[in-house]
Amino acid sequence: MKLKDLLKVASKVSLRERQLLLAHLLKVKPGDIYFIEDREVSKKLQEEYLKSLKLLEEGYPLQYILGEWDFCGRTFKVKEGVLIPRPETELLCEKVLELIPANGEYVGFEIGVGTGCISITLLLERRNLIMYADDVQDTALELAKENAKLHKVEQRLILKKGDMFEPVEGMVFDFVVSNPPYIPQREWENLPKGVRLEGWTSLIGGEKGYEFYERFAQEVGKFIKDSGFFALEIGHDQGSILKKLFTEKGFRVDIFKDYAGQDRVLIGWSL
Ligand SMILES: C[S@@+](CC[C@H](N)C(=O)[O-])C[C@H]1O[C@@H](n2cnc3c(N)ncnc32)[C@H](O)[C@@H]1O
Repeated sequence: MKLKDLLKVASKVSLRERQLLLAHLLKVKPGDIYFIEDREVSKKLQEEYLKSLKLLEEGYPLQYILGEWDFCGRTFKVKEGVLIPRPETELLCEKVLELIPANGEYVGFEIGVGTGCISITLLLERRNLIMYADDVQDTALELAKENAKLHKVEQRLILKKGDMFEPVEGMVFDFVVSNPPYIPQREWENLPKGVRLEGWTSLIGGEKGYEFYERFAQEVGKFIKDSGFFALEIGHDQGSILKKLFTEKGFRVDIFKDYAGQDRVLIGWSL
């Protein structure tokens, strides 16, 4: 069978996803598929492709099959149980980078490192930055370590296991960043099966969804310098409640919308 015939096999999976899958199996760039579409494909590859296609049709995430995904123009390894980097989170990185000039020396802290996509992006964009980052999940910390090595920033990413601020007790940072779990627990059952594979701990913020931010607002003041700031990804419907929460705790807050026009990033400063 030729490659182009394999691509034509009927499926509800989008052509783009099928191309990405085939490119992955053939170890070529997705854009090169059309240059080699007359190539004969082995029986083994056909079987592998059809097996993966079935998984995709059942809702298994393409990213977990590929074992990697792009974030801010770079590729990160991904693994079941750890959040797949999302395009919305790129805005969080952009906003942090706007606040840390390229020539300065900074020490930041990330809560809930996951794949490491946020901390590693910041480290690659700011060569004088040092990041501390934690997570409660071993799988996430192992993956972040792997990604840090892949992008050669492992010397500047200090990974710690623990809950929220507990691993950095007594330290102060130029900034704290986090994309925490923020989905209310009642929504778990309605999430697509593939999304649920990213794990409860990655996604669910508690009964109301914004419990992480309540704890964070209580504690963050102790961990940022007077000139420091914090940057958080938030749920699209949490902007006003979180603005109120942080303002009442004595912070000045700005909220930024993502490219879909939804509230997505909250930046806070001590008054
Ligand atoms: C939404 S994911 C974000 C992962 C990654 N930073 C990203 O943006 O793709 C949230 C991460 O926070 C971790 N986490 C959840 N609760 C935490 C807590 N109390 N302390 C530290 N990490 C936590 C989860 O294990 C998960 O890896």
